[in-house]
Amino acid sequence: MSDSQPIGVALLGLGVVGSGVAEALERRRDALARSVGAPLELRKALVRDLGKPRPFPLPPHKLTLRMEEILDDPDVRVVVELMGGETPAGEHVRRALERGKHVVTANKELMAKDGPDLLALADSKRLNLRFEGAVGGAIPVIGALSRDLLANRVRSIHAIINGTTNFILTRMAEDGMDAGQALRLAQERGYAEADPANDVEGLDAAYKLAILATLAFHSPISTRQVYWEGISRLSPQDFRYARELGYAIKLLAVAKRDQDGLEARVHPALIPEAHILAKVGGVFNAVEVAGDLVGRAVFHGLGAGPAPTASAVLGDLVDIGRMLLVNAEPPKAVPMDRSDAVKDMSQVSTRYYLRLHVPDRAGVLAKITRVLGDLDISIASVIQKDTDPVTQTAEIVITTHPSREAALRRSLAMLGGLDVVKEVSNMIRLEELPS
Ligand SMILES: NC(=O)c1ccc[n+]([C@@H]2O[C@H](COP(=O)([O-])OP(=O)(O)OC[C@H]3O[C@@H](n4cnc5c(N)ncnc54)[C@H](OP(=O)(O)O)[C@@H]3O)[C@@H](O)[C@H]2O)c1
Repeated sequence: MSDSQPIGVALLGLGVVGSGVAEALERRRDALARSVGAPLELRKALVRDLGKPRPFPLPPHKLTLRMEEILDDPDVRVVVELMGGETPAGEHVRRALERGKHVVTANKELMAKDGPDLLALADSKRLNLRFEGAVGGAIPVIGALSRDLLANRVRSIHAIINGTTNFILTRMAEDGMDAGQALRLAQERGYAEADPANDVEGLDAAYKLAILATLAFHSPISTRQVYWEGISRLSPQDFRYARELGYAIKLLAVAKRDQDGLEARVHPALIPEAHILAKVGGVFNAVEVAGDLVGRAVFHGLGAGPAPTASAVLGDLVDIGRMLLVNAEPPKAVPMDRSDAVKDMSQVSTRYYLRLHVPDRAGVLAKITRVLGDLDISIASVIQKDTDPVTQTAEIVITTHPSREAALRRSLAMLGGLDVVKEVSNMIRLEELPS
């Protein structure tokens, strides 16, 4: 054990992650003290309900309903925000920084919406604002982009950063479940919240992508600039056809830079089955960063849960504790010295998978290919699937070469109006990945 004065820590929130952090601080006290050079002492935890049963109960004198108790305690050197949401978490983080306290947070929504401002405030006060737990749980990707990969010109990020949807898609792919069944299983196992909308609709991944893209491209990218779309339109047929074509379907977060600007988008995508991201199953997350010096680096691990998130939060705490012991100033924040435009989704070019329900008769394909051809959408493959002799209908699956999204959307409207198309059943983007 170290003889140095303890470093006081306060938690804002003692829920799933807060309890995981409190437990690890207590149970790993001696090991953490050896790593830091001084004990990390949990002095107070801010909660809403003092009487609520907790997964890791703290003595009553350590719980408080008043943020002032934490702000006014000079021995609290680091505030760890684990409440979630923008309000009042953002206000508390701001006040903690203004009162000279370092901050650790795992709050993706807050960092996606207010991260650049809060980081500038922390920088101006020579304080740390660390947020490794905000993206990818235990995966050390924020530290990598903020430090280890900083010398790179990052070209792209391709990521699976929502464990709930990856669990659902894995069950749909492996067990043939529909989205509803897979979601219910995720909820039974505690992988999905009672209200899973943010996860299923892609917003959670959009928050995380905004954070990653901001760091990677040195340009403040807000969630409003991220295109996001969820997984609810996917059906078991899409998984079957994708597999036959040699692809997996994932909710993919993509950020790219090319000569025309930046792309930031979250949507389901067909990706080659042999690619490492296609093998990321269940609640695991993975982030692939491509840069000019590093080539391709892939980070893989558990993306949520009390222990993995505590791992990231404690890593940040240990780092801050070490700096405090030697009175070191925090490293400069990643410079936000670029302001490349983020392309509107209509300007983005990708490949596409289209599934159409058509009458099973001659001449259908000719009319469909004419619509696509007129819009300069070049077809890579066409397969006719699942003919139904009773209704005399069939499914056609088309994959395209890269085309502008604007053209593709026009083609969907035109295909929907053809007498030879009963229904445009689905459109999924097909992603070329770095190799
Ligand atoms: N859960 C995960 O696996 C995970 C993974 C990575 C990142 N995160 C992030 O970590 C953060 C916490 O998530 P969580 O799952 O631990 O949430 P949670 O279980 O809902 O816990 C939230 C905690 O904050 C407290 N709280 C909320 N509003 C408050 C207020 N106005 N005043 C005082 N206390 C308040 C709650 O107090 P009471 O208990 O008294 O109600 C509760 O203890 C979020 O930003 C989340 O995005 C979570």
